[in-house]
Amino acid sequence: MLKPRRSIVGLDIGSSCIKAVELTREKYDLVVSGYAQIDVPNEASRQEAIAELMRAAKFRSKRVATAVSGKNVVFRYVSMPEMAEDKLVQAVRLEADKYIPFDVADVEIDAQRLGSGTDAAGKPDMKVLLIAAKKSFVADHVRLLVELGLQPASIGVDGFALGNAWELGDQVNPGIQESGRTVALVDVGSAKTSINILRENTTCFAREVPLGGQDLTNAIARRLGIEPGAAEAVKREPGEQAALVAEAIGQVLDDLGNEINLSFDFYENQFDGEVQDVRLTGGSALLPSLEEGLERILEKRTKTWNPIEGLKVRSDAVDVEALNRQAPQLAVAIGLAAAV
Ligand SMILES: Nc1ncnc2c1ncn2[C@@H]1O[C@H](COP(=O)(O)OP(=O)(O)OP(=O)(O)O)[C@@H](O)[C@H]1O
Ligand SMILES: [Mg+2]
Repeated sequence: MLKPRRSIVGLDIGSSCIKAVELTREKYDLVVSGYAQIDVPNEASRQEAIAELMRAAKFRSKRVATAVSGKNVVFRYVSMPEMAEDKLVQAVRLEADKYIPFDVADVEIDAQRLGSGTDAAGKPDMKVLLIAAKKSFVADHVRLLVELGLQPASIGVDGFALGNAWELGDQVNPGIQESGRTVALVDVGSAKTSINILRENTTCFAREVPLGGQDLTNAIARRLGIEPGAAEAVKREPGEQAALVAEAIGQVLDDLGNEINLSFDFYENQFDGEVQDVRLTGGSALLPSLEEGLERILEKRTKTWNPIEGLKVRSDAVDVEALNRQAPQLAVAIGLAAAV
């Protein structure tokens, strides 16, 4: 008899760091049964880095849930008449050439219902997020995984993975998330920041902004007149240079905050509600000053979020101390695994 497929690895192939979290379904719980992460110095060494990470991690499963991102993936907001969810992707596909910059024959298209709203004339409609990814790009992504002996089980986008991680958190920590609130999940990575705005645990908006930790590092390098490698170390452990570092990254934080605010404005216009809370994840959320810096610009309650909280962890298979230390950086990997 086939073994039940109980374990899956959420594999978050970030531009600077690959994160993998294995979740295993045990009777009533989802348990963290494996974890590893590895920095990738450049794109060329990505496949080798994944291979090394999988060797080191000794996961039970070869099934992986991953995501695609970047310029080959586009997000578009579309207004459609209300219809059944199973008709949605087909309906969106028929009209996709109106919305996307690629030839429709060359793309994979997915669509997600975001909620009800009103159109420009005030008539009820349905807000839909259309995601299109170049077929060749997705095929290359799958090939990279298959060549490593992995079994791709699903391919998503970071923004939705964040939403899934949030929903999982709500299930394992009943009552911890105040109901009726609108929360913005903001994952500040290296090359980009992913935003997901949820109302009552339902995604209403998702977007990527091409700003992240790499821009903070470059700003420090310029300000201190040092190489990016050295600036990365100063960013993580500023010591006596804390004030200089804060000054150096101020402009990047302002730019990032302004982009996030634009997303909040879009949501508030489309959905007639207000973002109340901001939860930060991503490796850059390990920067102690990020919370305070963004809270000042966004003027909303802003907290770093630990997506591991409430989950059971197999301490015989996982370095629990490292898992807890890096937790905010693992939100996408957890969400990818949780969605399958
Ligand atoms: N302790 C720390 N303090 C400050 N920044 C940190 C720390 N640890 C990691 N970072 C930063 O976090 C970023 C990496 O985060 P993350 O792993 O979320 O990005 P990524 O997924 O590789 O990138 P992307 O999502 O943009 O492709 C890097 O810019 C790194 O400098
Ligand atoms: Mg990332």
